[in-house]
Amino acid sequence: MRQERGPAVNPYLPMRARVIGTRIETDDRMLKTIDLSPAGLKVPEGFPFKPGQFCEISIFGRGEAPFGIASSPTEVGFLRFTVNRAGLVTAAIHRLEKGDEVGLRGPFGKAFPIDLFEGNHVVVIGGGFAFTTLRSLVVYMLDKQNRSRFGGITVIYGARSPGLLLYREELTAWGRQDDLDLYVTVDQGDQDWDGLEGFVPDVVARVSPSAKGTYAVVCGPPIMIKFTLPRLLELGFQGDQVYTSLERRMKCGLGKCGRCNIGHLYVCKDGPVFSYAQLARLVLDD
Ligand SMILES: Cc1cc2nc3c(=O)[nH]c(=O)nc-3n(C[C@H](O)[C@H](O)[C@H](O)COP(=O)(O)OP(=O)(O)OC[C@H]3O[C@@H](n4cnc5c(N)ncnc54)[C@H](O)[C@@H]3O)c2cc1C
Ligand code: FES
Repeated sequence: MRQERGPAVNPYLPMRARVIGTRIETDDRMLKTIDLSPAGLKVPEGFPFKPGQFCEISIFGRGEAPFGIASSPTEVGFLRFTVNRAGLVTAAIHRLEKGDEVGLRGPFGKAFPIDLFEGNHVVVIGGGFAFTTLRSLVVYMLDKQNRSRFGGITVIYGARSPGLLLYREELTAWGRQDDLDLYVTVDQGDQDWDGLEGFVPDVVARVSPSAKGTYAVVCGPPIMIKFTLPRLLELGFQGDQVYTSLERRMKCGLGKCGRCNIGHLYVCKDGPVFSYAQLARLVLDD
C-alpha cells in the first residue's frame, strides 16, 4: 500500500486531506468552519502542531491560501480552520462539503510561546475572525492535562454584533467555567443580547488586567490592535509581554519565496507570532 507522506517529508507538496465536518459560524454566512482529516495521518500524533501555527490549504484548480489552525493539539482526529469568504480560494472553501478532498501543507510558522506563558496569567484578547488561533490557544490551556501549567486565564473577545461571534456554543460553555474569566463584547447588541457592549480596547481598560506576571496575546483587525496596545502599555505591560499574529500575503509558507517579508523577517517562518518588542525593533531597524 502506498505510504502517505507526513508533513516533514516534502513541505512543498500538499498532502491530501478530507473534509469531515463543516459549519457556518456567523449569521452573515461569511465565516465557515471546516474540519479536516489528513489522509493516513492521525491528528495530533502524525501531524504535530502548536497553537498559533498555520497551514496552506489548496483547492484543486483554484489555488492555495494560508489559514491559522483553530483546533488545539489536545483535540484528537481533526484539524479545524475557520475561513472568511474573501476571494477565489476562500469562496471555493465555502463550497466544500463533507467528504470533499483538499490539499494541505504545514504546519508552518512559529507558535505562541507557550513555554514562556507557563506559570503566568495569560490574557487573550481577540476581535472578529482573528479569534481562530486564539481558540486553539485557549482550548489548549484549558485542557485538564495543561490547566495547572498556567495561572489565571482571561479571555476578552469582541465582534461587531452577536451574530458575528465565532464558536458561540463554546463561548457559552467557557462562560460557565470557573477556571477562566470570559468577557464577550459586541459593538452593538440586539434585543436578545444581555452581554457587554463596547469596543474591545475599552473592555480591556475596564477589566484592567495586572501586568505583573502576565502575558497578553492580541489578535484582531488592525484598528482593534492599534487601540488595544496603548491600553496595555498604560496598564504596565512591556513589549515582550504582548504577542500578536500577523497576516501577510504568502506563497511558499517556508521562508523561500520572499513574498511575505517585513524588513529582514519572513512572516511565514519567523512569525506569524511576534512580540511587540520584536515588531518595535523592526520599525526602528528600517
Ligand atoms: C498566517 C495567516 C493566517 C491566516 N488565517 C486565516 C484564518 O484563520 N481565516 C481566514 O479566513 N483567513 C486567514 N488568513 C487570510 C487568508 O489567507 C486570506 O483571506 C486568503 O489568502 C484569501 O485568499 P482568496 O484566494 O480567497 O482571496 P484573493 O482572491 O487572493 O483576494 C481576495 C481579497 O482578500 C485580500 N487578501 C488576500 N490575502 C490576504 C491576506 N493574507 N491578508 C489580508 N487580505 C488578504 C485581497 O487583497 C483581496 O482584497 C490568514 C493569513 C495568514 C497569512
Ligand atoms: S511566503 Fe514565501 S517567504 Fe514567506
